[in-house]
Amino acid sequence: MSYIEELFSLKGRKVVVTGGGGAIPGSIAAGLAKAGADVCLWGRGTNHPMSEAAKEVRAEAGPGAGHVEAITVDTGDAAACERAVAETETLIGPPDVLINGVGGNRGKAPFVDLDEKLFREVLELNLLAGLVTPTKAFARYWIARGIKGNVVMMASMTSYKPLSGVWAYDAAKSALLNLTEGLAKELAPQGIRVNGIAPGFFIGNQNRALLIDEKTGEPTARGKAILARTPFGRFGEKSELRGAVIFLISDRASGFVTGVTIPVDGGYLTDNI
Ligand SMILES: NC(=O)c1ccc[n+]([C@@H]2O[C@H](COP(=O)([O-])OP(=O)(O)OC[C@H]3O[C@@H](n4cnc5c(N)ncnc54)[C@H](O)[C@@H]3O)[C@@H](O)[C@H]2O)c1
Repeated sequence: MSYIEELFSLKGRKVVVTGGGGAIPGSIAAGLAKAGADVCLWGRGTNHPMSEAAKEVRAEAGPGAGHVEAITVDTGDAAACERAVAETETLIGPPDVLINGVGGNRGKAPFVDLDEKLFREVLELNLLAGLVTPTKAFARYWIARGIKGNVVMMASMTSYKPLSGVWAYDAAKSALLNLTEGLAKELAPQGIRVNGIAPGFFIGNQNRALLIDEKTGEPTARGKAILARTPFGRFGEKSELRGAVIFLISDRASGFVTGVTIPVDGGYLTDNI
C-alpha cells in the first residue's frame, strides 16, 4: 500500500450519506465509494426512489468501487433513524461514518413578508433532519459499541454571512457551525470526530430555480451576483467537494482534526472591496 493509500484509502469504511438521492450528497457518496468505502444512501425518495439513486451512484462510482446500498428513511424521524442504523448494519456492516447531506432552502422573501410556517419547516429540515436527529442516533450507536465514529456536516456560505431573503436557511446554517463545534467537544472523549464542509454555490435541486433561469438556462440576477463575488467566477462542480470529505473522514490524514468546517467555495469568503 502506498503512503497516499495509507492516508486516504476508505477500504473497509462503512459510510451513511443522508440526502443520498440529492445532487451534492449523491456526488459525495460516489466519490467515497470510488475511494473504497461501502456506502448506504439514506433518503426520503419522494421524487426519486432510493433504489434508483443507488443505481446512479453505483454507475458514477464505476467498477472496483465499494458497495452502494440505499434505505428509504425520513431523517427527521428519530425512531426511523434508529431502525435505519440497524438496517444499514445488515446491508453494509456497522457504519462508522455519517455524512449529514440532508438540507436545503425553500422560498425567499423580504423579512416583513416572512412565512413563519415555512420558516419552521426550513429550520426542521436543516437542523433536525439535517443534523440533530440522525447524529443523535449515530452517536448513541457508536458510544454503546465503542466505535470511533466520524460525522461530516453540510454547512454553507450562509453559515458565515447571511444571504438575503432566506431567513430560516441563514439561521439554520449558522447554527450548524456552532453545533459542529459543540458536538466535537462533547464527543471527543469517545474518539468521535465531528467536522463539516461549507460548499460555496453548486447547482442542486433545492437551489436551481434561485440560481438558473429555467427558460434561458442563464444565471438569474442572484446567480450573476454570486458569480461576481466568487473569485473563480463560476459555480462549483459537485465532484470538487469529495476531496475535503475524504480528508475529514480519513483518520490517518485528519485524526487530530475535529470541530472544523472547511469552505469549498472558489474563494467566495475572501470577498472584500
Ligand atoms: N447546492 C448548493 O450550492 C449548496 C451550497 C451549500 C450547502 N448546500 C447543502 O448541501 C446539502 C445538499 O444540497 P443539494 O443542493 O444537493 O440539495 P438536494 O435537494 O439536491 O439534496 C437534498 C436531498 O435530501 C433529501 N431530503 C430532504 N429532507 C429529507 C428528510 N427529512 N429525510 C431524508 N431525506 C431528505 C431530499 O429528498 C434530497 O434528495 C444541503 O444541506 C444544502 O443545504 C448546498
